[in-house]
Amino acid sequence: MKKALFSLILLFLLSPAFAQQITQLTSPDGKIQIEINPENGLTYSVSHQGKLLIQPSRLGFSLTKPEVKLSEFDLLGSEEKSVDQTWTPVYGERSDIRDQYRELRLRLKAKSQPAVEIQVVFRAYNDGVGFRYEFPEQEGFKHFIVGEELTEFRLGADHLAFWIPGDYDTNEFLYNTTRLSEVKALEANAKEIDIAVKSPIGDHFVQTPLQLVTDAGYYIHIHEAALVNYPVMQLELDKADFTLKSHLVPDAVGNKAYLQTGTSTPWRSIIISKTPEGILASDLILNLNEPASEGDYTWVTPQKFIGVWWEMHVGKGTWDYSSGKHAANTANVKKYIDFAAKYGIEGVLVEGWNEGWEDWFGNWKEEVFDFVTPYPDYAMKELSSYARSKNVRLIMHHETSGSVTNYERRLDDALDFMVQHDINTVKTGYVGKIIPRGEHHDSQWMNRHYVHVGKKAAEKKIMVVSHESSRPTGLHRTYPNMMASEAARGNEFNNAPTFGLTPEHETILAFTRLKGGPMDYTPGFFDFKLNRFEPSRKTQVNTTIAKQAALFVVFYSPIQMLGDLPENLEKYPDLVRFIVDIPLNWQESQYIKSAPGDQVVVARKAKENGVWYVAGISDEQAREVELDFSFLEKGKTYTVHLIQDSQDAHYDLNPTGMESKSSSVKAGQKMKVRMAEGGGFVMKLSLNN
Ligand code: NOJ
Ligand code: CA
Repeated sequence: MKKALFSLILLFLLSPAFAQQITQLTSPDGKIQIEINPENGLTYSVSHQGKLLIQPSRLGFSLTKPEVKLSEFDLLGSEEKSVDQTWTPVYGERSDIRDQYRELRLRLKAKSQPAVEIQVVFRAYNDGVGFRYEFPEQEGFKHFIVGEELTEFRLGADHLAFWIPGDYDTNEFLYNTTRLSEVKALEANAKEIDIAVKSPIGDHFVQTPLQLVTDAGYYIHIHEAALVNYPVMQLELDKADFTLKSHLVPDAVGNKAYLQTGTSTPWRSIIISKTPEGILASDLILNLNEPASEGDYTWVTPQKFIGVWWEMHVGKGTWDYSSGKHAANTANVKKYIDFAAKYGIEGVLVEGWNEGWEDWFGNWKEEVFDFVTPYPDYAMKELSSYARSKNVRLIMHHETSGSVTNYERRLDDALDFMVQHDINTVKTGYVGKIIPRGEHHDSQWMNRHYVHVGKKAAEKKIMVVSHESSRPTGLHRTYPNMMASEAARGNEFNNAPTFGLTPEHETILAFTRLKGGPMDYTPGFFDFKLNRFEPSRKTQVNTTIAKQAALFVVFYSPIQMLGDLPENLEKYPDLVRFIVDIPLNWQESQYIKSAPGDQVVVARKAKENGVWYVAGISDEQAREVELDFSFLEKGKTYTVHLIQDSQDAHYDLNPTGMESKSSSVKAGQKMKVRMAEGGGFVMKLSLNN
């Protein structure tokens, strides 16, 4: 009794002060609640229907110039607003995206000297939370250097996590699935001996997008949105209370970000869902990005392409000229163009077309490529007009070999050269250690560079696909010509010398990397043992052929490469036609039965003609999915064209085991489809007249 009285008094004494300070923000549907407390260090917490998912977690900065910590604040004021609008992306998984949230803006003054003013903006959506910091223009404080962002995500429990190790230079890892307490990032990093440039951070560091699953069955997804002038946020895990702390990627001298007032940080995003499908369906990251500026984007044209590319990866040809096996020669490229024309494929990427490949890799060299000088056996002009005469366009390749200074100096000329040759898509690449020396792929300087290239290309109506860039954060909403990037372990990694991809990899990618934006995953390998040209090769593609086809629907991207060599694709002409026919822009998408590490199944309706596609992928286990066609138009009959694994298909033992079947269904009917070990399926449902 005494004890109870004592706590009552304490409450009475403390609560008035606290009550005034604690601010709350609730999502439009009332389920998600954010609580912000500026007392004793600024903190926020997040709960869903009363269940605390993010415990009180710190916010703030430490600056190195001026040297000051911004973590204790006085609240100057706050503003709230509600937004409910719908917008139309240039391309995407659905034609209308609802952007509905409640926003709270806190105006804060640091208790430090100088008394820096910052604003923290929170948004509560029905599917999660976004927040960011803004530095308004103010007297006596303009340029500053960020030493660290103090943002935390205090989880308070040992969730299951789908993670890759923290690293300043690469995201091309296989995913690890463990409890947070089992994260061993250095060990995971060290295992990955096929990744050329790595800069591991420490044993407790992981990258975002990070997918977490709580014991109560909540799916929590942590990432960021609108990363333009700032380093990538990696996360340091404190295993004591399972707190994830922001760790920004440093520059060569250890600073994190050079900013001036009138700016904001990227958004920190937390998607929350009680189902795995809810994570896949969330548009929160896109919604947190700025709309594209008004203008004409009809020149941003979704497309499929093939490439003079895989033949170098598997050792049939080379990028360099002096080997005597130079793949990008005029006659060979013409064959690719003919193949593309035959199947109605829009683009042909040509790698190794330009001088410099003799000694491009690993030397941290400055002037390797000039991006405008073809090798002597590559008739640039002739090929681009040959392509055009066949209704195909060449796709340019700018491998920078990490020498970004060199690329920036030559960028205008390189893009002009493309325009001159009627090429409107470029694949950029950043293999190797970055120049300026000491910069990392994920640093502020590089993130500015990726956006700079995107903007410069847009001035010339050029579309960009990047490799080895930092992972995307939804910027394709703002810059629709920045169509896709690799920024994770892609299909091409199947060819890595020691170890490629596991069958479960793609089922995790959908929940992690793909939430930031489209991936240049390059599905479409139809030949699975990769030792045809170099018998010593051990690696192989660990999927079935039906799964390769399914990926064109499961992984949304407005630009998709059919990865394999024309001669391998040519063995399956019907399958190539089926794939070429798959739309790149959708009216709507519904994720069906999905779970990270197990399977992903999605139904998508084409924007143009109302045709539906349903596709699924499995991990190393065979699985059966029951499809419920309640999404089809009532009373109508649809013709089904199904491509699935044969009974004896298996990613290792029989990857090419495939069946193609026709049938018909009506809305509301059900159908069971089996996926083999490492398998998948894809079906087209066309409305009968
Ligand atoms: C790595 C890229 O991911 C790959 O697609 C490309 O072929 C090579 N670099 C050469 O640029
Ligand atoms: Ca790569």
